[in-house]
Amino acid sequence: MKKSLGTLAGIVLIALSGSALADEQLEIGKKIYERAFGRGCGTCHDIASNPQLTELVKAGQLDRAKFEQVLKEGRGGMPKAIEEIMKNKAVEKAGYGEDQAVDALYEYIKSK
Ligand code: HEC
Repeated sequence: MKKSLGTLAGIVLIALSGSALADEQLEIGKKIYERAFGRGCGTCHDIASNPQLTELVKAGQLDRAKFEQVLKEGRGGMPKAIEEIMKNKAVEKAGYGEDQAVDALYEYIKSK
């Protein structure tokens, strides 16, 4: 009995830390989305004339690889964003690398 309680506590702990990490990821993604270029991605993407980023990501029409490529290379009116993302305070504080930062941003947009 004692042992199974210990196991249960262990499982609960693992589940809790997993969800805390997921929360941290979404929180960082949100900060990037709201603060990139000082005005956030939404100034350009939550308006009708530009790609509806949130809808595209949610609908699975913009995969993670394409998303990353546009952030790294820019495209037309879309500025290169990766340096701006890496300068974000929340990203620096968490010690995220580029992959982790792009993941966080992508997951946040998916969850919006
Ligand atoms: C100055 C306005 C502006 C800002 C700020 C901006 N974008 Fe964009 N973005 C655009 C425009 C315009 C396009 C369309 C470019 C084209 O296809 O010619 C675009 C395209 C994209 C695409 C490609 C969409 C597709 O359909 O393939 C992605 C991904 C993207 N932006 C992500 C972001 C993210 C993430 C941020 C914040 C870090 C951001 N953008 C900030 C203007 C902006």
